[in-house]
Amino acid sequence: MPYTLHRGDARTVLAGLPDGIIDAVITDPPYNSGGRTSAERTTKTARAKYTSGDAGHTLANFPGDNRDQRSYTRWLTELLTESYRAAKKHAVAVVFTDWRQEPCTTDALQMAGWTWSGTLPWIKPASRPRKGGFKQSSEFIVWGVKESLDRSRAIYLPGHFIASQPRKGRVHITQKPIEVMREIVQIAPPGGTVLDPFTGSGTTGVAALREGRQFIGVELSDHYATIAEARLNAEENGLTQDDFILAGPGDTA
Ligand SMILES: C[S@@+](CC[C@H](N)C(=O)[O-])C[C@H]1O[C@@H](n2cnc3c(N)ncnc32)[C@H](O)[C@@H]1O
Repeated sequence: MPYTLHRGDARTVLAGLPDGIIDAVITDPPYNSGGRTSAERTTKTARAKYTSGDAGHTLANFPGDNRDQRSYTRWLTELLTESYRAAKKHAVAVVFTDWRQEPCTTDALQMAGWTWSGTLPWIKPASRPRKGGFKQSSEFIVWGVKESLDRSRAIYLPGHFIASQPRKGRVHITQKPIEVMREIVQIAPPGGTVLDPFTGSGTTGVAALREGRQFIGVELSDHYATIAEARLNAEENGLTQDDFILAGPGDTA
């Protein structure tokens, strides 16, 4: 099977992975951001933080988004340390974040042993203007390598991405655009293994399978694990994501 999806806590599952089997860790953790003050960050749900009050959807909340910045840094460091151990030499780590958590994320990446190699902007044209200030239309993708890049591979990937969050068929509050993820997974060699410890609705995994990579995912929320399983299964069986949307995973929260 080209994919394995674990239901459970990422730290526990990663601790059980063998050494040196992963070609790329590509993940979109809960940012633990979204508030101006510590109280706002730690008392609001992810749904309240990341969706506007007038959002026209009822997508489910997700866990793990209430850490303050210091405990977030420590937690992410532990996860990226386990990922580093499970990674092969020349593996690459790719971690999504926002402007507020970018310093924590680059600290965690480096403290976990990865060599920080850059930060890629992801520009979202469809984002709300901010009266009296700059529009927040970017998120960031921090990346690093285990020891060094494999320079024998003739691949040249983009240094930025422009794509809005999916609207049609969106199934997760913070779902990433499949077209962006299809480019990013190419950092793993063809047939190589991509690990996403925070699988959500499975976008990284769908992109990995579509681009001929294997996938290992972990998701804590049963609701989102069920959605990810359905999307991965549809992808593996040659169904389109539209087929998945029509069939629907059902509301299993
Ligand atoms: C930002 S979302 C990922 C969204 C994903 N990129 C997508 O396109 O659907 C982060 C996910 O991590 C999950 N999560 C939170 N804490 C976790 C933990 N300790 N272990 C595994 N998954 C966790 C949440 O349930 C959430 O679905």
